[in-house]
Amino acid sequence: MALAAPVGTALAAPPADHVPPGQAKKDTLRWVAPNGFHIGTAVAGGGHHESQPYPDPFTSDTQYREVLAAEFSSVSPENQMKWEYIHPERDRYNFATADAIVEFAEANRQVVRGHTLLWHSQNPAWLEQGDFTPDELRTILREHITTVVGRYAGRIQQWDVANEIFDESGELRTTDNIWIRELGPGIIADAFRWAHQADPNAELFFNDYGVEGVNAKSDAYYALVEQLLADGVPVHGFSAQAHLSTRYGFPGDLEANLRRFADLGLETAITELDVRMDLPADGKPTAAQLEQQADYYQQALTACLNVEGCDSFTIWGFTDKYSWVPVFFEGEGAATVMWDDFTRKPV
Ligand code: G3I
Repeated sequence: MALAAPVGTALAAPPADHVPPGQAKKDTLRWVAPNGFHIGTAVAGGGHHESQPYPDPFTSDTQYREVLAAEFSSVSPENQMKWEYIHPERDRYNFATADAIVEFAEANRQVVRGHTLLWHSQNPAWLEQGDFTPDELRTILREHITTVVGRYAGRIQQWDVANEIFDESGELRTTDNIWIRELGPGIIADAFRWAHQADPNAELFFNDYGVEGVNAKSDAYYALVEQLLADGVPVHGFSAQAHLSTRYGFPGDLEANLRRFADLGLETAITELDVRMDLPADGKPTAAQLEQQADYYQQALTACLNVEGCDSFTIWGFTDKYSWVPVFFEGEGAATVMWDDFTRKPV
C-alpha cells in the first residue's frame, strides 16, 4: 500500500513496496537482512553536496529515492539534522528537510538515526562566534536538544548524541568542541540526560571515527561509558563510523571492540561505513581493488552480525555519484557499494 507522500519535498516517496525496475524484491539489502537487523544509509544532502554540480540528491533525484526506499530499512540524515542546517539562527529552526526525511522513512517503513546533537563541527556561526556566557551556552544546548529530540520523539530509533568528542590520542576535544571547552566534560552527561527526557524511547549513542579497533580512542570511550553508566546517565549505545581505506589493513579487532561495549550492556552499531581506494589514472578501480573493497565491507558486516546487540549497520551513502570521499581525499574514491548509475559493485 502506498502511504502519504512526504510534505515539503519536490518528489513523492515511492510506494513502500516499490523495487527498482528489473530487480526482485528478494534481491534487496533490506529483504535479505535478518529480522530486526537494520541496514541503513546516509541520506545525501547539504554539506559537500552544496558545492557539487548537481541538485540536492534527496529532494531532486527520483532514481536515488527509489533505491533509497527499496534497499534500506534505516536512514541517517547526512547533514540535514546538524546544527548549521536545523538551527541556522538563534531563534529560528529549519525543520523542512529533516521532517521530509522522517516522513519518507515512515512512508517506507524505515527507522531513522538522528545525527547529531553535540559536535565540534558544522555548527552555525551565530553559535561559534556568539561570545555567549557559560550559562547562556548551557541554555542554548538544552533548548536545542529538547526542541529537536522532542520534535521527533517516538520517530527516531537512535540518536548520535555526542559525535567525535575525543581526538586520536584519546583526549577530550577541549579546544575545538565549543561545549566541552566552555562548559567542561560534565556537559556530555547533561546532553544524554536532556535527550532522554525529550524522547525516553530513543537509543542514545556515542559515535566516532577511528574507534573500529581497540586503541587509545576507543579505550577512552570505554572508560567514559563505564563511568557514565555507574553514574546512572542514560547512555545506550556506542557506534563506530568505519570510514575505511584500502590503504590500511582492515581493523581485525572490530568485533572484539564492539563486543566489549556490548558486554557493558550497550547497543553497538556501524554508522558510516565506506571503503575508499586510490584510483588508477583512468579513474576505474581494478578488479583486485573491488575485491578488496568487497572483503572489507563483508568483514565489517560479519563483525556486526556476530555481536549481540549490533543491530544497525549503516553505509555513508550507497552511490559513488554522491559520495563525500572524492571531495575530501584527492585521488581517492569509489568508496560506496554502487557506481554512479546505481548499478552494483562486487561488494
Ligand atoms: O562551511 C563551509 C563553508 O564556509 C564554505 O563556503 C563551503 C564551500 O564548499 O564549505 C563549507 O563546508 C562544508 C561542510 O560540509 C559544511 O556544510 C564542506 O565543504 C563539506 O565538505 C562538508 O561536508 C560534510 C562533512 O560531514 C562535514 O564534516 C559531508 O557532506 C558529510 O558527508 C560529512 O559527514 C561526516 C559525518 O557527519 C560525521 N563523520 C564523518 C563524516 C564524513 O566526514
